[in-house]
Amino acid sequence: MNIDTSPNLIDLALGQPQRPRRVFIETYGCQMNVADSELMAGILQGEGWEKADAPEDADVILVNTCAVREKAEERVFGRVATLNGVKYQRPDVLIGVTGCMAEHLRDKLTERAPWVDLIIGPDAYRRLPDLIQQAEAVRTDPIIDIRLDREETYEGLDPVRKEGITGWVSIQRGCDKFCTFCIVPYTRGRERGVPPREVLRQVRQLVEEGYPEVTLLGQTVNSYRYEDVDFADLVEAVAAIEGVKRIRFTSPYPIDFTPKLIALMAREPKVCKYIHLPVQSGSDDVLDRMRRGYTIAQYRQLVADIRAAMPGIAISTDIITGFPGETEDDFQQTLDLMAELRCSFAFMFKYSERPGTFAHKRLADDVPEDVKGERLRRVIALQEQLGAEEIQRWVGRVEPVLVEGDSRRSPDQWSGRTDAFVTVVFDKNVPGVQRGDLVNVRIDRASAHTLFGQIVP
Ligand code: 5AD
Repeated sequence: MNIDTSPNLIDLALGQPQRPRRVFIETYGCQMNVADSELMAGILQGEGWEKADAPEDADVILVNTCAVREKAEERVFGRVATLNGVKYQRPDVLIGVTGCMAEHLRDKLTERAPWVDLIIGPDAYRRLPDLIQQAEAVRTDPIIDIRLDREETYEGLDPVRKEGITGWVSIQRGCDKFCTFCIVPYTRGRERGVPPREVLRQVRQLVEEGYPEVTLLGQTVNSYRYEDVDFADLVEAVAAIEGVKRIRFTSPYPIDFTPKLIALMAREPKVCKYIHLPVQSGSDDVLDRMRRGYTIAQYRQLVADIRAAMPGIAISTDIITGFPGETEDDFQQTLDLMAELRCSFAFMFKYSERPGTFAHKRLADDVPEDVKGERLRRVIALQEQLGAEEIQRWVGRVEPVLVEGDSRRSPDQWSGRTDAFVTVVFDKNVPGVQRGDLVNVRIDRASAHTLFGQIVP
């Protein structure tokens, strides 16, 4: 080890108290990544580390990355280059790339960002303190640990959660679906359920920390299984915990949405009446090439069953435009389906070819970039219109709203969310209401994305 570059060793040598080391973690991508960053923060805090408020104040900077689309990766490359600037000021700082890009792009990373000291995949976070120590000792080549692990569920570790209303709980890791467009099974490995005892332990802890809402997370969250416990059983057990006011989950996979889960959602008031149910395309041909495992008729039937059991439930979705072989007619079927489903919102993406996937190997990326873009603009425009119409249906109703905090516009108003995940801004006209309370709000009007109302005392 080089003594000159190790402030801790110098401190030790001089007999001075060590200042706790600080880590700055920056997160890209999905909610699972947010939860993973909280997990890493927890692991390091357990070793005496503190959180840095800015990269400039950190001993270690971790960039927790997403590989789902090329654009996400390019953003990270840009960011990692900027962070290299911190090294000019303080050569002893370590920069690490964690998560899906570490898994997917290890070689490209060492090539394009040779200043990166650590490359750590999503199943190696338990070893983070050791890996940092190794990187501090080596300081030339990066320390790389991208082993995937069929068993790792991070049981027994305590994430350090960001302040907020919802506490994220990962109940599943990895993915076994292998949709032909998707990199996730390759970057996050095989699907495994977190043991129910661990999920319940974390939820109880969240309640103790004052979180009124929990969001259960998994790539295909409702495929959850641990021994003989399925997703509906797990949600029921979570709902039985006193102090949990609301339960959300994301994202379910259409073919694993069981009648048992629908029945539980319908009878359990703590489970929010909102489902994000990615459909991806309105064309059976495209769905087949995506290997989604369902037809539009089956998806439509599922939505009908869900809406029959829970009238008024809100549904949102994901759409990809320009998947290999998508014709104008296929695309028109997507528009038709969207108009029929009337989702409250949608995440919409241009197809982005991901090296290593089945689509990359076997299907020509044959929809021209400008056509992908034009189709994307058309789905976005349609969804904007549908969303703006859909939000109007809440006007005149009284909805339970979880108070999240002051509204952005004014400290005299609260902001919160309905069951259906719509933001509501309402006056602080009733005294005694606090952040985290569930209150009934009469909805008076709606803008394109926000509801406005009054508390009903
Ligand atoms: N290209 C475009 N969108 C993608 N998604 C996943 N992989 C790709 C890809 N290669 C989208 C899907 C998924 C969401 C999380 O990201 O719509 O549901």
